[in-house]
Amino acid sequence: MDKLIIRGGNRLSGTIPISGAKNSALTLIPCALLTEEPLTLRNLPRLADIDGFQHLMNQFGVTTAVQGSRPEDFGRVMTLEAPRITSNVAPYDLVRKMRASILVLGPLLARTGEATVSLPGGCAIGNRPIDLHLKVLEAFGAEIELAAGYVKAIAPEGGLPGGEYDFPVVSVGATENALMAAVLAKGTSKLFNAAREPEIVDLCKLLVAMGAEIEGIGSSDLAIHGVKRLHGATYRVMADRIEAGSYACAAAITGGDVLLEGARADEMGATLHALRNIGIDVTEEKTGVRVAANGPLKPANLTTAPYPGLATDMQAQLMSLLTVADGTSVLTETIFENRFMHVPELSRMGADISVSGRTAIVKGVKQLTGAAVMATDLRASMSLAIAALAAEGQSEIRRIYHLDRGYERLEEKLQLVGADIERVGDD
Ligand code: EPU
Repeated sequence: MDKLIIRGGNRLSGTIPISGAKNSALTLIPCALLTEEPLTLRNLPRLADIDGFQHLMNQFGVTTAVQGSRPEDFGRVMTLEAPRITSNVAPYDLVRKMRASILVLGPLLARTGEATVSLPGGCAIGNRPIDLHLKVLEAFGAEIELAAGYVKAIAPEGGLPGGEYDFPVVSVGATENALMAAVLAKGTSKLFNAAREPEIVDLCKLLVAMGAEIEGIGSSDLAIHGVKRLHGATYRVMADRIEAGSYACAAAITGGDVLLEGARADEMGATLHALRNIGIDVTEEKTGVRVAANGPLKPANLTTAPYPGLATDMQAQLMSLLTVADGTSVLTETIFENRFMHVPELSRMGADISVSGRTAIVKGVKQLTGAAVMATDLRASMSLAIAALAAEGQSEIRRIYHLDRGYERLEEKLQLVGADIERVGDD
């Protein structure tokens, strides 16, 4: 298994190209199930999770063709075509490797009237139930059966009637499943307290490009008027706001100055606000967002929340940055119950952090020191890389398959701006 060797201390400077958004791509790809015509997605990141999802789509009889795969290119283009769905079962072996597989439930049900998906189970960052995915589909008229570790959703004869659902908790995935199911329903469906993350807006824009009728895009109340059929489309995946935010933290912790090429400031509001409070200069430029650190980092009080609040996917990376701030910071995680697994690893690098329930108190230290650390989930892994970039001496980050799930060629991008980082085989 590969590991990353990072020798800290280099100031990052230059330009990092930002890839297409993983979490957007993972909901745009299953939209291919909604039409017989080809769907072409541009700017897809090259990630293990995207390969996994492609494989899952093949399982349903969707053909996939990938272009633009020169090794030196970032991103690629995938055309998916599903003239006929040959299976509507997502098996355990594929789902267990990738929780986002649950996002095929809505579109498979809408297209074929029935879908069977293995229950994804918990994961490192929390219990992550799927009850809301099932409740909203039930509200749209589906019958739900649970048996032998699988969920089966069945539409009435003639298709889903559609319906209304008010989410008790904001859920990105359940909103996505609901949208993909409702677009082909017979009537109008309404969602209240729906997630409004930029990735949801990206999904809505693709669905509209395919012929869907959706009102309220970008808000938490959505009305979806079902249509008889959707057609093919060509669509560019939005820039990855979490990848961009992660590299912003990397630049900032090294006192660097980096242009995040392709990043959109309007989709990164809460992260950029947090960075500014920490004392980082953030400027919107024509081609992206520039972050520059001059002077000491200030402590901050940050709480994660659904969009437009601060993304839980940025909590670990911001925590790394605050480990070397000039004072004490407080970070509160409100979305997932177990998302502080980077804390013991950051402590091994000299950080002073104590956790009580959902709150972490981070006392800034003068200097982190390099250490061998273990990645536990995607964003936790990135937080370790960020800390290592500022640490004195060498760090080794193991289990980097987590990073490969969500950061396209991380070490190459960091090398572009002067980091001393290499990937080596773990023996
Ligand atoms: N929840 C329920 N029941 C449900 C669904 C969610 O109780 O049926 C709870 C969750 O346990 C959690 C909260 O609702 O406490 C929010 O979960 P959400 O459904 O919004 O998360 P998700 O759709 O499973 C996506 C991203 C995550 C990101 C979250 C929150 C994808 C593929 N994943 O997950 O991304 O943290 O939204 O923004 O889009 C990552 O990229 O590292 C990552 C974990």
